[in-house]
Amino acid sequence: MAHSASEIAKELSALAAVELVNEGATIAIGSGSTVDKAIRALGRKFEGSTRKPSIVAASKHSEQLVEEARLPLRNLDQVSDFSLMLDGADEVAPDLTLIKGGGGALTREKLLATMAERLIIMVDFTKIVHRIGEHSLLPVEVIPFAAPYVGRRLRELKLEPTLRLSPGGAIVPYLTDNHCEILDCRIPDRTIDPAELEAGIRSIRGVVESGLFVRMTNRVYVGTRDGRVEELRPATEPGLPRVPADLRDALLQRIEDARRSVQPSSRTPPLKKRSQAKSIRRTSHRTQRR
Ligand code: 5RP
Repeated sequence: MAHSASEIAKELSALAAVELVNEGATIAIGSGSTVDKAIRALGRKFEGSTRKPSIVAASKHSEQLVEEARLPLRNLDQVSDFSLMLDGADEVAPDLTLIKGGGGALTREKLLATMAERLIIMVDFTKIVHRIGEHSLLPVEVIPFAAPYVGRRLRELKLEPTLRLSPGGAIVPYLTDNHCEILDCRIPDRTIDPAELEAGIRSIRGVVESGLFVRMTNRVYVGTRDGRVEELRPATEPGLPRVPADLRDALLQRIEDARRSVQPSSRTPPLKKRSQAKSIRRTSHRTQRR
């Protein structure tokens, strides 16, 4: 069977992330096709081990795969924190803000990520964006009774919500593992402050959780189109953020354009690339966990 470049890139990012999992660890795992690959890779990596990692999974589907991979499945009665969480994402912005929840598991994923020391994200190159909401809708999980009210309040925040429907053609709402509904929201094409938007959404009664993950990510492994894996780190970590070259160049160009638009060009020599990259680092992730 032929595999697309995106599928191969997902596989590569999953393999890179699985390298971080040690024998005897207790980890959390999210949901989605990249996570499926990571679970299978974990099964292969620890086959025959007497100290397999214990896993709490964010969806019923992932739980089933963990069992099929013969890895010990745990629940939150048995585990109170994790050394790390492996998960996928629908979008990764330059400051490592994420959109998650394409598979509907956003609430459990965010809960487990909060309990984990480090959140490790595995994506293919198609998930890297310049601004959050560029390609994906933002999922917001809601109590079904409250959905019409929440929809109106989301519109006041300038979002455009649509009720997610079940796959398969029937006109019935999609239900999460928590028996809640999802409003998928288009984010307007303008600069937003992700933390502000997240706070606005969460302040609406009836909202269970939003798929916006702000200042939670510790690493992103990006499978590239040409078969490599790039590692992105939060801006507060030592060393320059390692972003894919084309995205980095686009970012540097935007910063240069912004500088030109606010300062007289004749008196402002262009920045060297390194100092431009430093300015990216300074302006984001001030409170990033390590
Ligand atoms: C599920 C998620 C997934 O991680 C996200 O949708 C990415 O999925 P995939 O790995 O299939 O591209 O957030 O709720």
